Amino acid sequence: MPRLTHEEILHWLREEDPAALTTLFARADEVRRTHVGDEVHLRGLIEISSYCVRQCHYCGLRMARTMPRYRMTRDEILTAARSAVELGFGTVVLQSGEDFGIEAEWLAEVLRTIKNETPLAITLSLGERHSDELRLWRASGADRYLLRFETSDPALYAAIHPRRGVAVSDRVSLLRELRALGYEIGSGVMTGIPGQTHEMLTRDIELFEALDLDMVGIGPFLAHPDTPLGAPNAPTAGADQVPSSEWMVLKAVALTRLVCPEANLPSTTALATINTLDGREHGLESGANVFMPILTPAPYRQMYQIYPGKACIDEDATQCNTCLRERIERLGRTVGTGPGGRFTRTASHSLLALRSQPRFIPRNNSPSPLVVLS
Ligand code: 5AD
Repeated sequence: MPRLTHEEILHWLREEDPAALTTLFARADEVRRTHVGDEVHLRGLIEISSYCVRQCHYCGLRMARTMPRYRMTRDEILTAARSAVELGFGTVVLQSGEDFGIEAEWLAEVLRTIKNETPLAITLSLGERHSDELRLWRASGADRYLLRFETSDPALYAAIHPRRGVAVSDRVSLLRELRALGYEIGSGVMTGIPGQTHEMLTRDIELFEALDLDMVGIGPFLAHPDTPLGAPNAPTAGADQVPSSEWMVLKAVALTRLVCPEANLPSTTALATINTLDGREHGLESGANVFMPILTPAPYRQMYQIYPGKACIDEDATQCNTCLRERIERLGRTVGTGPGGRFTRTASHSLLALRSQPRFIPRNNSPSPLVVLS
């Protein structure tokens, strides 16, 4: 079966006819059901530190901002991880700015403790860290790593990510390295980042496929007023600028499901932020199969303002859990149990099997999806 061509992806990203898009979303939903089933996995997001050494032009955690920062203690992280178990989640995601105050050995001990005490899968999302650290954390129990490449366009990447000293950032190489270390790898982009064209977003989606990503997070760009790209005069791509609309996110999620049929795709909090009413549901109906409820302790949440107005940060974890489960069930879907890694559809490919044989990727024999252009 043919893959989606570059022109087809581009066509769909530019499509604005609601009736045509409904067919795209329905096809993505069908491919989602065939390849990853009706379970929606809950990943508890613990934002462990808001310190960051980077100056990314879109992010509210950029180092240049003067604001109160926090780093969670070992016990705070363990308490949050235990609450993930109590709430029935199978995974915790430990996320932070790029914070070298999170020391490798210190985190390794926290990971080992979570693994000894709980059945949780652990995902890390800590930015660009050194190979030795990534290897240690993998050996200490981390199962997955999220690192969005943000854009596949080198010029746009360079324009919005100031270098740290002389080091060149190469997130695609780092993702490949993470995979070689035995991590499941996740990446993603924002839709509507100023300067992003439809061509660029098409190539982003093609790169998701080329990397054979296990997880892909896609959310809208949300302007943060205290960042360069949040300024009213931020340069855009003009007529071909990708909008940061809900529809654009849904198109990108749906196309990603078609090119990465087995991947875990979250319906993101950023999507819920631009449509608080039913953005989360729309994500799940356009190819997504994961929610990432926030488990960060209340006092820290306001200090982790990647973008303003984040949905649900005033809800405590129990309320959030109830609300998300109701949303999942109203759609006729089920709440996932267990770690919910890429291979859980086949019982023999448990996370343990995955660990002992990290690069064994059972290939599904079902045909790859085809979307006939309307
Ligand atoms: N709007 C939306 N998403 C953002 N991110 C960072 N800043 C913003 C913003 N202003 C996303 C990036 C990052 C992820 C953790 O959050 O894609 O990888």
